[in-house]
Amino acid sequence: MKTNMADAAIVELIEMAFEARKNAYIPYSGYAVGAALACADSRIFTGCNVENASFGATNCAERTAFFKAVSEGARDFRAIAIVGGVWQGQDEKPYSVKDYAYPCGICRQVMKELGGDDLTVIVARSREDYKVWTLAKLLPEGFGGWQ
Ligand code: THU
Repeated sequence: MKTNMADAAIVELIEMAFEARKNAYIPYSGYAVGAALACADSRIFTGCNVENASFGATNCAERTAFFKAVSEGARDFRAIAIVGGVWQGQDEKPYSVKDYAYPCGICRQVMKELGGDDLTVIVARSREDYKVWTLAKLLPEGFGGWQ
């Protein structure tokens, strides 16, 4: 998938997602996710998953990033990088996870609402190993309202 983002900008976003992943609050799953969201005004908001004993109140990393951004006045979004994997603690290799962490359906719907079909979605296993998508590819024919 093509994007007009420079490679360096993609790598920066991936690194920030890995840093945010370190803050994941994951007492139940042990699966840590980080996200970094680039705005049109060049601000970047990060997020991690925040779990809850009720399970249902858990917030994914992607939505944390989007909700932080919106609550700070951002409305125009360009790209989000996502990294996730089982947290290995001190054995964890820096900036590396085993698999691509694709966004869940609820997060895809939130991305549709706030980022739109053209949002660039990057899933990464490392700074060198990543895939670049658009939201439209990950949520084809998605619901965008009724007007
Ligand atoms: N999770 C995310 O943070 N993003 C996703 O798109 C998928 C799932 C989190 C939620 C939960 O804390 C853990 O991963 C396991 O499902």
